[in-house]
Amino acid sequence: MPGDTVLRAALRSGVSLPYECASGGCGACRVQLKSGEIDDLWPEAPGLPTRSRDRGYRLACQARPRSDCMIAARLPASGGLGPRPRRHRASLSAREDLTHDMAQFSFVIDDAADFLPGQFALLSLPGVTGDRAYSMSNLGNEDGEWRFTIKRMVNGAGGKVLFDGLQVGDEIVLDGPYGMSYLRDSGRRDIVCIAGGSGLSPVLSILAGAARSGHADRKITLYFGGRRPSDLCADLLIARDEQLDARLTRHYAISDPDCAEPWSGERGYIHDIARQHLEREGDPAANDYYFCGPPAMTDAVQRMLLELKVPVSQIFYDRFV
Ligand SMILES: Cc1cc2nc3c(=O)[nH]c(=O)nc-3n(C[C@H](O)[C@H](O)[C@H](O)COP(=O)(O)OP(=O)(O)OC[C@H]3O[C@@H](n4cnc5c(N)ncnc54)[C@H](O)[C@@H]3O)c2cc1C
Ligand code: FES
Repeated sequence: MPGDTVLRAALRSGVSLPYECASGGCGACRVQLKSGEIDDLWPEAPGLPTRSRDRGYRLACQARPRSDCMIAARLPASGGLGPRPRRHRASLSAREDLTHDMAQFSFVIDDAADFLPGQFALLSLPGVTGDRAYSMSNLGNEDGEWRFTIKRMVNGAGGKVLFDGLQVGDEIVLDGPYGMSYLRDSGRRDIVCIAGGSGLSPVLSILAGAARSGHADRKITLYFGGRRPSDLCADLLIARDEQLDARLTRHYAISDPDCAEPWSGERGYIHDIARQHLEREGDPAANDYYFCGPPAMTDAVQRMLLELKVPVSQIFYDRFV
């Protein structure tokens, strides 16, 4: 379709090009341009070093073909595509503030919202250069609702439009779904989710999906960390989902050692807290793991799980690059 990036065109055609962030940050979608012309949507994207660019590599998520193109890419052995991304006009139907810097935004489209628990969408926001990736916190549904838990970043251009500019009823373009770290429902292993900050968004979707998956004996656990108690908005959202609320074991922790807010729970980084519990319970390799958050947090969780000898095939994550 006109305007498609190489990544989007490939996924829409059923070709499972490798990717992670779809936002220029990770480099997982690197392809070599053999012939043809493309527009590079973000030449300074951190996902591609200048040296690779000079050797003809491009980021498929930031390359928009201007002609027929031939590319060389390494495809994964197995597909695992899920629903193919489509572009929709979406209107903001509700916004709810959750903490001092986090809010829930709901957009509706004129069609079913078709995505898997844990996937994300690209939002094209008025006046903002480049799409922004946000993970859905709800489940796919016939009502066309795509719900996101979004944290406002200091000086963030997308956040400014979302938090200060958009009014209920305003329209944006929503492109999705994307993402490979969705809930693998066939597994019978217990599920452990670990989230930092707005990493809660996809984790809520994964937890809601797991609670409805039919494996009633499967244990579902959430570890959620914030800097202060007032960052920890998970209970408010989980309480609205009776099925999940009844099934979920949860552990919350705060990481700011100087925090003056009253708190009698655990303190420390959430990966350290999770590790203590997992070691105490024994056999960390008996679980599937889903985690999301800023790169420092996801890198630490990944390291921790590998040290605990969890097989890579049981680890699924999105880094909010
Ligand atoms: C897979 C994924 C899922 C995410 N899910 C969530 C979520 O559920 N909730 C949440 O709060 N955050 C999420 N994020 C982070 C989110 O995408 C934004 O990075 C964050 O909100 C800050 O955006 P900003 O526009 O406010 O800040 P900015 O600093 O203005 O922009 C940050 C990001 O925008 C992109 N960007 C910046 N400039 C350009 C450009 N010129 N061209 C193209 N792209 C550009 C880059 O990806 C950059 O990291 C997710 C990120 C990823 C990769
Ligand atoms: S998927 Fe293109 S840079 Fe991450």
